[in-house]
Amino acid sequence: MKVIVLYASRYGSTKEIAEFIAETFRRQGVAADARSVGAAPRLDDYDAVVIGSAVYMGHWMGDAVEFVRQNRAALADRPVWLFSSGPLQLGQEVTSTEDPGLEPKEIGEFREAIHPRDHRVFFGALDPAKLGFSHRLIRKLPAGRDLLPEGDFRNWDDIEAWTGGILRALAVPAES
Ligand SMILES: Cc1cc2nc3c(=O)[nH]c(=O)nc-3n(C[C@H](O)[C@H](O)[C@H](O)COP(=O)(O)O)c2cc1C
Repeated sequence: MKVIVLYASRYGSTKEIAEFIAETFRRQGVAADARSVGAAPRLDDYDAVVIGSAVYMGHWMGDAVEFVRQNRAALADRPVWLFSSGPLQLGQEVTSTEDPGLEPKEIGEFREAIHPRDHRVFFGALDPAKLGFSHRLIRKLPAGRDLLPEGDFRNWDDIEAWTGGILRALAVPAES
């Protein structure tokens, strides 16, 4: 059993989630590699695939969307789990990361195309010092700072628990 954890990450926080998931697999004795989708990894060597992208303006990053579209046949042929790393906080109307309003626009298309076992939204992180020019401008818009607060909101326990569910689905016995 070999798993690949693919990611698209602009500022690194989604990459760190992917690396943590791969490390969680390895701790349970499952070979796992974390790779950027941009590295054009070959899926032939892997039995299962996890793909995650940072979310910007309601969308997965372009290279992750392209990767899923271009590898549709290979992905449809394997068990696949998707995750999105985005929200920095929940609003008054959105009270859970399972709220459909937080689902990136492409996930419906991916459900049809590759039948993922699950799609999960995780909290993300934002370090204003890292932001590129256009993202810095967006954050300067009225309400920008309220919508995009600074901080690291990633919940490693949630991510570990979700990975545990994947291990169980792949019938990997938990190590004590
Ligand atoms: C300009 C901007 C727009 C964003 N738009 C969204 C969004 O629409 N939905 C969301 O859930 N998160 C949004 N985020 C939060 C990012 O997805 C979050 O910071 C994520 O952890 C970044 O991942 P990365 O470090 O891997 O690039 C936005 C962040 C910025 C800076």
